[in-house]
This record gives sequence, C-alpha cells and structure tokens, in this order.
Amino acid sequence: MTREDILDFLARAAEFEKRPNRHLLDERIVATLFFEPSTRTRLSFETAANRLGAKVIGFADPKVSSGVKGETLKDTIMMVSNYADIIVMRHFKEGAAAEAAKVSPVPIVNAGDGSNQHPSQTMLDLYSIYKTQGTLDNLTIHLVGDLKYGRTVHSMLQAMRHFNPTFHFVSPKELRMPEEWKQYCHDNNIRYVETEEFTPESIASADILYMTRVQRERFTDLDEYERVKDTYILTRSMLSQAKETMKVLHPLPRVNEIAEDVDDDPRAYYFQQARNGLFAREVILTKVLDIHP
Ligand code: CP
Repeated sequence: MTREDILDFLARAAEFEKRPNRHLLDERIVATLFFEPSTRTRLSFETAANRLGAKVIGFADPKVSSGVKGETLKDTIMMVSNYADIIVMRHFKEGAAAEAAKVSPVPIVNAGDGSNQHPSQTMLDLYSIYKTQGTLDNLTIHLVGDLKYGRTVHSMLQAMRHFNPTFHFVSPKELRMPEEWKQYCHDNNIRYVETEEFTPESIASADILYMTRVQRERFTDLDEYERVKDTYILTRSMLSQAKETMKVLHPLPRVNEIAEDVDDDPRAYYFQQARNGLFAREVILTKVLDIHP
C-alpha cells in the first residue's frame, strides 16, 4: 500500500466507526478458515461481515475440517471458493496465504501466517496510532518482546516505511528482529536502534510502546521459551517517565508481559485497539471486494 492508500484506509475506518452497520455486503458470503487459534481476529472479521450484511461460513478449529483426513491446503481453498466470495485465512505455515492466493479464484485475506505476517493487525494498529497521536508521521515506536517470531511487528515495519518512523527494537538476544527485516529497514531508510534495555528511562522517548507476547507455540526448544518468556514485564510504575500522550499497544493476547495494574493507566490502549479491529476489518472486506461505500 502507498502512503495515500493507507491514509485513505484510515479515513474509511473512521467512517465505519461512526456508522458500523451498513448493507454493503448483502448476498455475499465470507469464509473464515482458522488453522490456528484466534479470539480477536476471527471474531472481529466475522463481526465486520455480519455488521455489513454478509453471511459467514468457516471453521475456528481445523480438527473439524477434512484437513485431518489429509486434504491439502490447495484443495481446501478450491472447495471453499466454490461457496464463498472471499476467504479470510489464518495458518500456522509462513507463506500459506500467498500460496492460497495463487490458486484461489476468490480473494484471500491473510489473517496471520506463522511467524511471517499479520497485515490486518497492522491496519488496526495504524488506525489506533493515528487516532491517538493525530498523525503517523515522525513517531518513535518501541517494539518490545518477541521480534523474531512476532508477525505483527514484521507487518508494521512495512506499513510505517512511508511515515519516517524511528523504531526501538527491544528484545532479548534470542528474540531479536531477524536480519532480513533489519535489511528491510536499511533498504527503506527506516531508522532503528536495537537494545535489551527496558526501564522507565528507556521508555521515556516512546510515542508508542508496542508490547508483544513471547509465543510458546513458535518455540521448538521449550527450555529456551522458559528462559525468555518473562524477560520484559511492563508495570504501571515503569510508566513514571513516559510521555502523557504515549500509548501502550499490544496485539493481544497478553500473558505476563503487561501487569494488570497498567490497565487503569490512561496510556493503556490495548482494549480500544482491539475494538478498532472491527472498523479496520470492515474496510478490508469492502476494499478487497471492491465495494465503495
Ligand atoms: N491479535 C490477534 O491476532 O489476536 P488473536 O490471535 O486472538 O486473533
């Protein structure tokens, strides 16, 4: 997406926030195929579809699909595209959405593919940043936690390249931002600093503090997971030097990385962020189906 595409997207999300219920997808069928667990992404896509008048089919658990009998992803997509106008898909394999899109006669929306990308999350993250900061330009964004397997942060880098950001990559050494994404930053003139420090002083420069979960399901070595899982825990007292306008975001679910006492701080924004997902996903469904409100 270009800078203009993104700004247009945000304007459309604001319109859906004002008026979320519209008959724009009457007589359309949206399929949601979730090969990995989800609460927010699936339910907000399904809510978006329902609020726009579409009907929803699909599965939240691949164990109830014929994948367990050995059906391939290609065949599953070919079947579902017989029934649905658009397929929203989450898969544990990196590149699965792109693979599906190659064979599918209907549009595929990537709702997360392994540790690779989570683009629809990025669109709601951008909307959340824009709503709270009034701009996407020239912001300092601290990405904290699992930057290796965290697909949300990989997608965010790409979208933010148009807006002159400064990133702080805050992670234990085992979960550093992968080289390919640091190369991406170099190639696109995105400034970043890499650090293991996570203190009230280090947080003070952030406009956005983007916390992430260390994802147990991505580790092949569970001892390593146990070693790193609680490296960073944000507590309310750690916000003592943070900007008043700073917002704490998290794609959720959280485990231990944000203490519950942060929830009552006005800078905590992660629950509203998840609500913004509904409006962002209403934009995605209408844009992908080429429906102009
Ligand atoms: N943010 C996110 O992807 O949450 P879910 O895994 O619950 O969909």
